[in-house]
Amino acid sequence: MPNIFVIKKKIKDFKNKIIKVNGDKSLSIRWVLFASLAEGRSKSFNLLLSEDVKASINSIKRLGIKVKLNENFCEIHGKGLNGYKYKSNTVLNAKNSGTLGRLILGLLVNSTKKIKLIGDKSLSKRDFKRISDPLQKFGAKFKLTKNRNLPLSILGTTNLKPIKYYEKNGSAQCKSSVILAALRTEGTTFIKAKKSRNHTELLCKYLKLPITLVKKKNYDLIKVKRAKKIRSFNYNIPSDISSAAFFIILTCLRKNSSMTINKVNINPSRIGIIYILKKMGAKIIFKNKKEYRGEQIADIFVKSPKNLKSINCPIRLNSSSIDEFLLIFLVAAKAKGISYFKDLGELNQKESPRLKWGSRILNLMGVKNQLTSSSIKIFGNPDINLKKKITIKNFLKDHRVFMSSVIAALSFGGEWHIHDKNSIKTSFPDFLKILKNLQT
Ligand code: S3P
Repeated sequence: MPNIFVIKKKIKDFKNKIIKVNGDKSLSIRWVLFASLAEGRSKSFNLLLSEDVKASINSIKRLGIKVKLNENFCEIHGKGLNGYKYKSNTVLNAKNSGTLGRLILGLLVNSTKKIKLIGDKSLSKRDFKRISDPLQKFGAKFKLTKNRNLPLSILGTTNLKPIKYYEKNGSAQCKSSVILAALRTEGTTFIKAKKSRNHTELLCKYLKLPITLVKKKNYDLIKVKRAKKIRSFNYNIPSDISSAAFFIILTCLRKNSSMTINKVNINPSRIGIIYILKKMGAKIIFKNKKEYRGEQIADIFVKSPKNLKSINCPIRLNSSSIDEFLLIFLVAAKAKGISYFKDLGELNQKESPRLKWGSRILNLMGVKNQLTSSSIKIFGNPDINLKKKITIKNFLKDHRVFMSSVIAALSFGGEWHIHDKNSIKTSFPDFLKILKNLQT
């Protein structure tokens, strides 16, 4: 099968469709890691079976944890907080996953053998110094490629010391990794963290682990003590708002369409995209809201707006929509007026430099934009209608570049040749299948 996806036609309007997208990636990876440390058998339902999550399962297997994958559920036989078997020459492959790569290092701070961590080409270009720096302070020893990248090796210590850590980038991965290390460490670790997704904190609370949290306007103060034990727990993973986002945007870019996306995790630290779209004129309603293990879940109803307005995007919404900006830029391309997005340097730290890719896609579409290292101004055109051929390639197989390009092609017309179709397996394996069902 060719790995290039060709689109020659816009999608037709769809009405009252009901869809379900795959499970939340952040929660799936966290469930795998926490269950591996729990005492006994934990089960999850609707676990995302993407490459990132499979890499997480393979990593804990290499550390001696048994995992059973059934058709309807996944079962992990945790061996307790000190249950990992550290063997010489262990290599863990985080593949494309920054979340796995960074979080698992927080668990390896007490390893008694040197562990090597590798990843794919994209992950090997990303910054691991941002997490080896704080973890080193606990007492773990690191060797990084070029002092910054993978492959790296970590050798832990059983004499961990608590730390004081200021997380300045709004990175949930770094914050979570330090929380995991702190749960292994005698004494109190103090974290001041710029706002970012809070799934790790919510899981810790649900599991009654020794963590306290004070919310300030722009950051959180988190205190973590050593955990004595984690009880086994079952989890029904809700759907991923970052996957739902592709279909929300597709609907917003149509004239006369509507759909409901069922059982999506609408955790407030993840729904910046909803606030941004509403400010731009989108019609979105949450239905059947409920709470599950500290997370918020709802069905999302979305219908095509009459008009789209430009936005001067408030920076306080950046972290809660960090994985959705490639899509938001497409809405800005069709909105009336000039949109402005700033303080977004973190986007260039993702699977590909996404701020640059956002601009590149707009340039290929002929949408005027002005890019700096941390901001973009987009000159919208409500009548955008493409006729030309556009090829999207060499984007480090970034799943979100692929899927956002597909949404652009189906919304704006032209003939698109989008490479690296297999990249969807990283986060949203059912993406193309759901799209196809929408068209029939
Ligand atoms: C994630 C955190 C974010 C996000 C990533 C998932 C997580 O990364 O972009 O897709 O699950 O903690 P950063 O922590 O680097 O911002």
